[in-house]
Amino acid sequence: MTLLTDRYERPIDYLRVSITDRCNLRCLYCMPLGGAVKLDHEDILSYEEFLRLIEIAVKMGINKVRLTGGEPLVRKGVVDFCRRLTGISDLQSLSLTTNGVLLEELAQELYAAGIRRINVSLDTLQREKFLRITRRDEFDRVWRGIQAAERLGFNPVKINVVVMRGINDDEVLDLARLSLHRPYHIRFIEFMGFNNDSQWTLQHYFSADEILAKLSKVGSLEQVAAQHTNGPARHFRWPDALGMIGIISPISHHFCPSCNRIRLTADGKLRNCLFSDQELDIKSPLRQGATDSELSQFLRASIVNKPEKHSLQPDVFRKCQSRPMVAIGG
Ligand code: GTP
Ligand code: 5AD
Ligand code: SF4
Repeated sequence: MTLLTDRYERPIDYLRVSITDRCNLRCLYCMPLGGAVKLDHEDILSYEEFLRLIEIAVKMGINKVRLTGGEPLVRKGVVDFCRRLTGISDLQSLSLTTNGVLLEELAQELYAAGIRRINVSLDTLQREKFLRITRRDEFDRVWRGIQAAERLGFNPVKINVVVMRGINDDEVLDLARLSLHRPYHIRFIEFMGFNNDSQWTLQHYFSADEILAKLSKVGSLEQVAAQHTNGPARHFRWPDALGMIGIISPISHHFCPSCNRIRLTADGKLRNCLFSDQELDIKSPLRQGATDSELSQFLRASIVNKPEKHSLQPDVFRKCQSRPMVAIGG
């Protein structure tokens, strides 16, 4: 298999696939304040269409696929789709990023379908605050979903925490301490301004260095070598902890030089950078009867044109994304 690289010679082996723009939560940092415009059903790719594109991508050298949303578990038939994807022999890793609301219900079936890696978003351990952040009272279900995933043997279970000053920065230590007695990877993510009011954004930005400073008060963290998945997180752990701590700092320490990913949106657009509005329509050729080889040219074009880096900084938030985060999948 050939190695896929972009024009900056970064190997690209990871495809994030947003299978729906629908979501059962309304997180402050993801949903635009007025709500997102929903895609029409006929514009959303069918599972057959996703499967064909993913198979082509895997033949080209993609070996890691992550399903995202919106919330991927709200789309009917997702378990069956996962089963078909885990059947692709050259696909080394299939994972999901979920908000966890439907996880308790679906964890067993997902496990049986061959999913082992799961990332769950959870920004607080307090029920009231969960309601404030997500605008839905679902903390208990999400927590039970995380525990169900652990019990069933998902490994790793990663918990994504978007840290926001004045909202949940006071919980960094409580959340991090979960890693002492549970095998979870607690990943603190710098809040990225995205389609929101910029004042709001700046006020709530909380940097990775501030997060690490809080953590080091508890005890010295040892840095853990990069994981084989080559994700954006830097890893740490406290001695004897069962789990790990990850820091994802897209704003203060860009990971663009080692970026290995492209994205496919629910409506069939290839996005080669989270922060670039550059999109390539692969749905039209797909629906107009393009051959596998023609479709692979679209994937290649998107990869080749991947921007070198994004230009976000704490005080230079861009609000110009053509789609909200909920329609990209993080
Ligand atoms: P792992 O392989 O488990 O490390 O997954 P991941 O970190 O790629 O996936 P996840 O969906 O859990 O994303 C974690 C956080 O990283 C989210 O806040 C994403 O928005 C952010 N993130 C993922 N990919 C990118 C990217 O290409 N650029 C930037 N700036 N942030 C990203
Ligand atoms: N900033 C940082 N992380 C975000 N996510 C969603 N929106 C943002 C944002 N504005 C995270 C969610 C989810 C992941 C896919 O992206 O927490 O875990
Ligand atoms: Fe839904 Fe995830 Fe966005 Fe929250 S972050 S609104 S759970 S897609």
